Amino acid sequence: MFPTPKMNRRNFLYGAGALALGGLAGVSQIRASAGTPLSLRTQKTAYAIGERPATEGLFSFAENAPPPVLRLKRNQVARIDVTNGLEDYTSIHWHGLRIANAMDGVPYLTQFPIASEETFSYEFTPPDAGTFWYHPHCNTMEQMAYGLTGILIVEEEEDPGFDADVPINLKDFRLDDDGSLLPYFTARGAARGGTLGTARTVNWRTAPEYEIPSGGLVRLRIVNTDLTRVYKVFLPNTEGHIIAWNGNPLREDIAWPTQEAPLWLAPGERVDIALRAPDVADEVIQAQTLIARQAQPLFSLRTTGVSKKRDLAELKSLSPVEVREPDLRTAETKDILFGWSPEGTGSNNGLCGDFGYTFWSINRNPWPGDAVKGSGPVVELKQGESYILKLTNKSPNLHPIHLHGLIFRPLRSNRRVLPSNWTDTILLLKDEVIEVALFADNPGDWAFHCHVIEHQKSGLSGYISVV
Ligand code: C2O
Ligand code: CU
Ligand code: CU
Repeated sequence: MFPTPKMNRRNFLYGAGALALGGLAGVSQIRASAGTPLSLRTQKTAYAIGERPATEGLFSFAENAPPPVLRLKRNQVARIDVTNGLEDYTSIHWHGLRIANAMDGVPYLTQFPIASEETFSYEFTPPDAGTFWYHPHCNTMEQMAYGLTGILIVEEEEDPGFDADVPINLKDFRLDDDGSLLPYFTARGAARGGTLGTARTVNWRTAPEYEIPSGGLVRLRIVNTDLTRVYKVFLPNTEGHIIAWNGNPLREDIAWPTQEAPLWLAPGERVDIALRAPDVADEVIQAQTLIARQAQPLFSLRTTGVSKKRDLAELKSLSPVEVREPDLRTAETKDILFGWSPEGTGSNNGLCGDFGYTFWSINRNPWPGDAVKGSGPVVELKQGESYILKLTNKSPNLHPIHLHGLIFRPLRSNRRVLPSNWTDTILLLKDEVIEVALFADNPGDWAFHCHVIEHQKSGLSGYISVV
């Protein structure tokens, strides 16, 4: 599906116009190969978002461009050297990858923060193919708000047979009309549903259009890397299938979304969609989201060329994720409550930035900050045992709850029927109670938090130990 050109140390880029099959105008993609480390550098950049003049002071892993899409191969060792070109400390987390704890990128819990102009070498072997992403876990809110969120794709060992692969990074920026940066959060937002952005982007552009081959099979990988917004996605007048949810091939079907029942994609979540493009050139498929109940365009796909005359039935189905099934007869249940906390003066994240407010808690404990020694785990799990986590939302706000290093699947909710698919993130609705099951196979201290970053940073955070 993707030609593999000869690699040099700088890796290769699909730049604007360099439309190798699967390449996307304006979106650079970097592929790791065995024995060739990738190099990433966090850096300041300027970029014009939408019609605005260029915004100075954005952050990326590339100059004058959004973060590249990283492509790794399943079961193949990857080394990624991250050099910190920013003044403040950072650390990079590989969201959804079930890798060794020491490579998970969480400051104080799994590594010391990376100082300015220092390099940390991450080395791991991704055990699952799918759509993931990468972002800082130190000075998280500022660095993510300013742009450090990228898509990470782990390719299948066997190509499923798509003609095009379209990574879509959904993210808001908080900008004024003149392109200047607005404060990246408000205390009012942090105490409630989070602070929404003012400029909605797709791969840092406003409603971009991408070319897809007429009659071809297209894989869309939509990733919500926003700090706050729950997208409500649908593709009117289009036929397709959801093939993976939050990185993992489906175990149970997810219904094709419609304007009446769109797919909710919370911060941190991903969906993989298989589409068959129309046969005629210059047909347009548009993905939309609901904003305050109004349909708004996200991005479009325009067919080009003569029909490839493909059929969705020609796709190899994705092989199911290799995870041990939890034993529900022996599984111990752990209760975990998410709610408000008495307002406090904030957390101590050491070199990773203090946040001046406490609004939230897990099991009634607001997270005291990454740098505070002796804060114990939310729960301790024994390696090799099965568990049910009973997640209760004691607040009226939405919380996409994310666990590092392990995946789980929902068993039941008190509010809705949930397809039981493997995931690393699950959205808790108002007053919702969801029981999820997991097999604790990956040892370590795994960060566990709400992916509305303002909630994470004002108390809704902690970790789960597997010992
Ligand atoms: Cu994507 Cu700890 O997070
Ligand atoms: Cu994560
Ligand atoms: Cu939350």
